[in-house]
Amino acid sequence: MEPHFPSFAGLLTKLCTPTILLLVLLSSSTFTSTEAYDALDPNGNITIKWDIISWTPDGYVATVTMFNFQQYRHIQAPGWTLGWTWAKKEVIWSMVGSQTTEQGDCSKYKGNVPHCCKKTPTVVDLLPGTPYNQQIANCCKGGVINAWAQDPAGAVSSFQVSVGAAGTTNKTVRVPKNFTLLAPGPGYTCSPAKVVRPTKFLTADKRRVTQALMTWNVTCTYSQFLAQKTPTCCVSLSSFYNDTIVGCPTCACGCQNKTAGSCVNSKTPHLASVVSPPGKTDLTPLVQCTSHMCPIRIHWHVKLNYKEYWRVKVTITNFNYRMNYTQWNLVMQHPNFDNLTQIFSFNYKSLTPYDGFTDDTAMLWGVKFYNDFLSQAGPLGNVQSELLFRKDQSTFTFEKGWAFPRRIYFNGDNCVMPPPDAYPWLPNDGYQSTMSLLQALTTALLSFIVLLAYA
Ligand SMILES: *[C@@H]1O[C@H](CO)[C@@H](O)[C@H](O)[C@H]1NC(C)=O
Ligand SMILES: *[C@@H]1O[C@H](CO)[C@@H](O)[C@H](O)[C@H]1NC(C)=O
Ligand SMILES: *[C@@H]1O[C@H](CO)[C@@H](O)[C@H](O)[C@H]1NC(C)=O
Ligand SMILES: *[C@@H]1O[C@H](CO)[C@@H](O)[C@H](O)[C@H]1NC(C)=O
Ligand SMILES: *[C@@H]1O[C@H](CO)[C@@H](O)[C@H](O)[C@H]1NC(C)=O
Ligand SMILES: *[C@@H]1O[C@H](CO)[C@@H](O)[C@H](O)[C@H]1NC(C)=O
Ligand SMILES: *[C@@H]1O[C@H](CO)[C@@H](O)[C@H](O)[C@H]1NC(C)=O
Ligand SMILES: *[C@@H]1O[C@H](CO)[C@@H](O)[C@H](O)[C@H]1NC(C)=O
Repeated sequence: MEPHFPSFAGLLTKLCTPTILLLVLLSSSTFTSTEAYDALDPNGNITIKWDIISWTPDGYVATVTMFNFQQYRHIQAPGWTLGWTWAKKEVIWSMVGSQTTEQGDCSKYKGNVPHCCKKTPTVVDLLPGTPYNQQIANCCKGGVINAWAQDPAGAVSSFQVSVGAAGTTNKTVRVPKNFTLLAPGPGYTCSPAKVVRPTKFLTADKRRVTQALMTWNVTCTYSQFLAQKTPTCCVSLSSFYNDTIVGCPTCACGCQNKTAGSCVNSKTPHLASVVSPPGKTDLTPLVQCTSHMCPIRIHWHVKLNYKEYWRVKVTITNFNYRMNYTQWNLVMQHPNFDNLTQIFSFNYKSLTPYDGFTDDTAMLWGVKFYNDFLSQAGPLGNVQSELLFRKDQSTFTFEKGWAFPRRIYFNGDNCVMPPPDAYPWLPNDGYQSTMSLLQALTTALLSFIVLLAYA
């Protein structure tokens, strides 16, 4: 866990007071649940809706729709994979807009052979460019689903399935069990399917409402703990008032010396042939050799100080030679986001987690066709923006690292921050010596809340 929460660990060793330890121990015993909970997106989930549209002689036709209700976590290429276990001896006669990865043993069928006879089918989306007669609305995006806050219209994925050997009335049909979702890796846990009020559909001309014969819902939630991913991004800091650039923590996402050939030097001759050997497509990250070894670095520079405003420059740099990030997003937390006055060249949306009153969290993403595409590592592999904040004179200060972000997520992953005692200080800032126990406690508590979010 340590690379995730250097501030917490750093503080503990530095100010290892029994009070903090006691506090942490006490609170951790109260929160032992492994349930997914993200404090910045408490209601975030992927809802799978299964609408029976018609009964057939031996089963039914259903439209399955996945809604990504997560504010900032999207599903990137190579996309989602959905699985379930049939309750009885169901088969899939046919699918529109998706397919199962395996047909299974259909040997007992003569003549008309089902699309899939497996007890636990595994379904994937079709690719863009699928012929129109094999498509339905919201299908065929290679399993890519955008985040709700960023693109609600693109946060939906659907397919149609014709099920045989199933019940043919709402009394005999059985809901499938054990839904599993890979998006694209692990991290999601799905609830059992629950019969809900039938969905109503508005016809295309908006003049008639139809409704499903029967509907059930499955809710899948994400937990970084289950995903067990190594960090994928880190944060570096600088300011106009101090020459020091505080880099990403060493080994934030991995160590250069751990495995030989785990990274490439940007000066390597014949770089292109190392990155993508001819005739091979490889999706595992291949990063540029750096001390942090992260695919993504976010740099926060405190750039200017005006009388009533201050200005920050944010740069996102891609160190991964094998990834173009499309539809990237950034979530940043800083107390001054309640008075963000202007933002240049990124889209912005305020997220109001917790109580709905504190407005200190912002979601940022690229402008379509301008900088929503973050190129693979190289000279074009960065995007940047400037933020103008209005000072609230009662809280604003350049002291004690206040001007730096509290936490940053890139594409929903928590980025590794430098330890707070390494932040650039104002000349003559007494930060190091006078940091009070109260502050230490507050910071420790805050970090602990972050920890909880992933427990
Ligand atoms: C899933 O997200 C939707 C939209 O935010 C919300 O209405 C619903 O209550 C959530 N479901 C669960 C089980 O959290
Ligand atoms: C099944 O359908 C009947 C009417 O056709 C309805 O009264 C009943 O509530 C339905 N049951 C379920 C479980 O949907
Ligand atoms: C649910 O599915 C997972 C993965 O397909 C499998 O490992 C697990 O045993 C299944 N559980 C049940 C109760 O079928
Ligand atoms: C079922 O999912 C749909 C998704 O559109 C949602 O609107 C509805 O509230 C869900 N129902 C329940 C009971 O979770
Ligand atoms: C690898 O590098 C890190 C940081 O540079 C260092 O702390 C660690 O001791 C090194 N490990 C080995 C096995 O050389
Ligand atoms: C990224 O995009 C560029 C330009 O469209 C393309 O040449 C390159 O092959 C892409 N790289 C990857 C890894 O997809
Ligand atoms: C923003 O700044 C103004 C002026 O300093 C202040 O009155 C206000 O409370 C601040 N917060 C918000 C949310 O506007
Ligand atoms: C700048 O900040 C660093 C801590 O990151 C500190 O060591 C250094 O003394 C500061 N420089 C000045 C001129 O205060």
